[in-house]
Amino acid sequence: MAIHGDPFGARSFVKQNGSSEIQAARKIFREEVLAGLSKPARQLSCKFFYDEPGAHLFRQICDLPEYYVTRTEIEILRLHGAEIATVLGSQIELIGLGTGAGSKTKILLEELDRPAVYVPIDISREQLERSAERFRKTFPSLQILPVAADYLEPFELPLPRHLSSRSVVYFPGSTIGNFEPDDATEFLSRVVELAGEGGGLLIGVDLQKDRHVIEAAYNDSAGVTAKFNKNLLARINRELGADFDLAHWLHYAVYNPAEGRVEIYLISEIDQAVRIADRTFEFRAGEKILTEYSYKHTINGFIMLARQAGFDFGRVWTDDQRWFGVFYFTVL
Ligand code: AVI
Repeated sequence: MAIHGDPFGARSFVKQNGSSEIQAARKIFREEVLAGLSKPARQLSCKFFYDEPGAHLFRQICDLPEYYVTRTEIEILRLHGAEIATVLGSQIELIGLGTGAGSKTKILLEELDRPAVYVPIDISREQLERSAERFRKTFPSLQILPVAADYLEPFELPLPRHLSSRSVVYFPGSTIGNFEPDDATEFLSRVVELAGEGGGLLIGVDLQKDRHVIEAAYNDSAGVTAKFNKNLLARINRELGADFDLAHWLHYAVYNPAEGRVEIYLISEIDQAVRIADRTFEFRAGEKILTEYSYKHTINGFIMLARQAGFDFGRVWTDDQRWFGVFYFTVL
């Protein structure tokens, strides 16, 4: 059985969503927004995209015809699920990082041989409870231990009652692409601790491909990605009482092949001043705010990155066009 210590530090795994926690989160948001906009190259962290309206827009993005990422990953799971399950083994404990509503996890769990425990870790408590309830009905013999936490921050794993053969961390959605390479390595080295000795990692990674395919995915014709990007400014207005005029900001997403990443910006269309929490920020026409990087990896590049973190490469499953990879690694 896997040993569950305190790999991410000493924090209770069931955090209360009380008003003091909301206040603390808002304080962090305010500080990070002010600091990011005060930099010579202005930036806002993509982790702030996902308030409720942002999460709703992201779910719409996942269904867009141009956004190949989600449907390609699902196609790989459907096509190779049985083989993936064999490689992961019987009676495992599956630890899901940011698995959201759990549609990919459900496909995986249906293929797995007698999975023992499922520990979904997600920041959205409501989504977590809702999907745990559904999973309890679909998989009655599976022990489900939801953890409401930000997996980027320290948290503690609950102690399962069911015995498991090993722990496998599941990190779908190519969220790893939103980390800069050094941060990705650092994050994966913490995942090594989470999986523990004998553990594994199943991770979805978007791969490098024709730039037109990539750019279309981040500049969809229905304008949902633009709305998703601008929602960050709307969130700053809502939560920090700012006065961004969304009509004067442009969504801009471009693939940088030298860096292997999509760069997403908000561009000021005019010279303008914006008030945010007793501060005034002046933006010149054409000035950019970086809001997200979305890295596209090569298969070998990602294997090397994971190796630096302490993972040994096991297998990769891709779609026919090699647009997306589902990688399996074991702890070195
Ligand atoms: C969550 N993440 C993997 C998405 C991506 O493709 O980088 C976020 C996203 N940003 C714009 N569209 C989707």
